[in-house]
Amino acid sequence: MQELQQILEQALAQFSVIDDEVELERVKARYLGKEGSLTGLLKGLGKLSAEERPAAGARINEVKQQIEDALQTRRDSIQQRALNAKLEAESLDVTLPGRNASTGGLHPVTRTLERIETLFNSIGFAVAEGPEIETDFYNFTALNIPEDHPARAMHDTFYIDDKHVLRTHTSPIQIRYMEAHMEKHRQQETMPDIRIIAPGRVYRVDSDATHSPMFHQVEGLWIGEKVSFADLKGVVQSFLQRFFESDDLQVRFRPSFFPFTEPSAEMDMSWKGGWLEIGGCGMVHPNVLKHVNIDSEKYIGFAFGLGVERLTMLRYGVNDLRLFFENDVQFLKQFS
Ligand code: FA5
Repeated sequence: MQELQQILEQALAQFSVIDDEVELERVKARYLGKEGSLTGLLKGLGKLSAEERPAAGARINEVKQQIEDALQTRRDSIQQRALNAKLEAESLDVTLPGRNASTGGLHPVTRTLERIETLFNSIGFAVAEGPEIETDFYNFTALNIPEDHPARAMHDTFYIDDKHVLRTHTSPIQIRYMEAHMEKHRQQETMPDIRIIAPGRVYRVDSDATHSPMFHQVEGLWIGEKVSFADLKGVVQSFLQRFFESDDLQVRFRPSFFPFTEPSAEMDMSWKGGWLEIGGCGMVHPNVLKHVNIDSEKYIGFAFGLGVERLTMLRYGVNDLRLFFENDVQFLKQFS
């Protein structure tokens, strides 16, 4: 068992000069690994006589434990030394000002959408939604734009396939909403009073300082028994005055053409001594009501569609719409 004492002394001596954890584990294997010297002795126990075996086994295990303890002590001291070195290298100046956690903010277009929804909610308009990939039928046909009608060329459309488009405006939501809600009214035999706004993304093959291929519109629709053009003017004017927080703001309605409204108008608002176009509107065309089985002799209403980026640009004084979609944090930070 003199050999055992030698192994122990050698192991302790070797461990005491190692400063690296990986190296320590490598040297450990020389003693305790599969081919290690101590493991070899344990395996050799079988050759001893039955009387010798217990004492020899106990002694080997005692040395094994001593080696393991020495290893752990060395491991701890290597780790402690590394930690001390790190603490010494990285000085901590507690007098430095703290780093602020950077907070995110809403995109200016999102802010506008939220503001529009709040203002219209306050005068009884619900919010409706529809799909961005639309069928040709909802985007055009049901809105009184039959196939081969020249009005289809007014929108530079992204086609998905023969029958599907990326919606070019929020007007198809009018149709979807009326279809769904008229059915309910018919079943309950109640009078419809459809009063919604429908905000959302729309797409056109279009790109310059005031046009982008993806932009947002908000549709408005009010159908009832006695809804008039005067109501349209009142609703739009009071919305814009509240949106821009200006009682002096004027709205002008210029005669125009949309296949789904009759009469139709372009809406302009007074701005810095001039007029700026912000959207289209009109009284819902009887053909549109017919498509959703509403009796156009009995019911009438108005619709409008506003450009959300246009409103955002005016409110924040931004002159190039493309800035909204460049993800430039310096630019976007100004609004949060
Ligand atoms: C329409 O899209 C009609 N659906 C609006 C409407 C609804 C009329 C209901 C009548 C009844 P227009 O194509 O003019 O209309 O678009 C409406 C507004 O969207 C424009 O005034 C403009 O503010 C905005 N707009 C149009 N194209 C773009 C674009 N490429 N980028 C940003 N804004 C746009």
